Amino acid sequence: MRLTPLQYSEKIDEATKYVRQYSANEPRVAIILGTGLGNLATHIKPEATLPYQEIPYFPQSTALSHQGQLVLGTLENVPVVAMQGRFHLYEGYPVTDAVLPVYAMQRLGAEILVVSNASGGVNPKFTGGDIMVMNSHINLMFRKNSELFNNSLVPMSSEQTGTLLYDRELIDQALQTGREHDFYIHEGCYVGLTGPNYETRSEYRMVRKIGGDVVGMSTIPEVLAAHSLQMKVLALSAVTNVAKPDALSETTAEEVVDIARLAEPKLTAIVIDLLRNL
Ligand code: HPA
Repeated sequence: MRLTPLQYSEKIDEATKYVRQYSANEPRVAIILGTGLGNLATHIKPEATLPYQEIPYFPQSTALSHQGQLVLGTLENVPVVAMQGRFHLYEGYPVTDAVLPVYAMQRLGAEILVVSNASGGVNPKFTGGDIMVMNSHINLMFRKNSELFNNSLVPMSSEQTGTLLYDRELIDQALQTGREHDFYIHEGCYVGLTGPNYETRSEYRMVRKIGGDVVGMSTIPEVLAAHSLQMKVLALSAVTNVAKPDALSETTAEEVVDIARLAEPKLTAIVIDLLRNL
């Protein structure tokens, strides 16, 4: 069923009102923790932890290693809201349902979205456990996004910064964190496919050929929603496996979760620096 904007707005309001009962803090930053990356939330001084099934109109998390709860509290004394577990289009949600939490977190007060994911590297310079900060994406999820943008044609690229979607200052700050903590952060392009399967060797080859550095099955809908709300976005990808199409090994979900966990401390360092520099 197609929602009128009013009905959608009322759903967001209901979700937001429910969450506000449990936390008076207005979060400044919203954080979405993807596969294997949920541990960052343990650094938050929690005020409230709300399972998604209790929040009106929040979908349910069904993906592996996605806890499915919203954590409100402070990190580095900054009020934040974090999603421990996200929604993927492959779980069957319409785009508007999958991104409703982004709208709700923005309505709670968040002006910045930090979004993370696990991805497969196709850039041969990448290694499992690396972090890539997204400066662009290629959307091959083939879902209609018109509701997100009210049917208007929205620019995504800028002459000055290259991107309007991914905030240049936040990207530079993340790269700086890597230099200070002695780990290398790549910068590059995320190709989004719907999944839920990992790719054939031909698909990995295609992803590389069309200009991708990594491939994954999430993030783009949330980034588009945040952009439609004029939020600043920092998107961090934990590279869990690197595809070598001519000597391909098997990618398994368990391996993806394990390697993403190795990358989690780097992600935490980047987020903590971002909050300190606000
Ligand atoms: N492909 C798609 N998504 C992924 C991968 C991959 O190889 N690894 C982790 N997420």
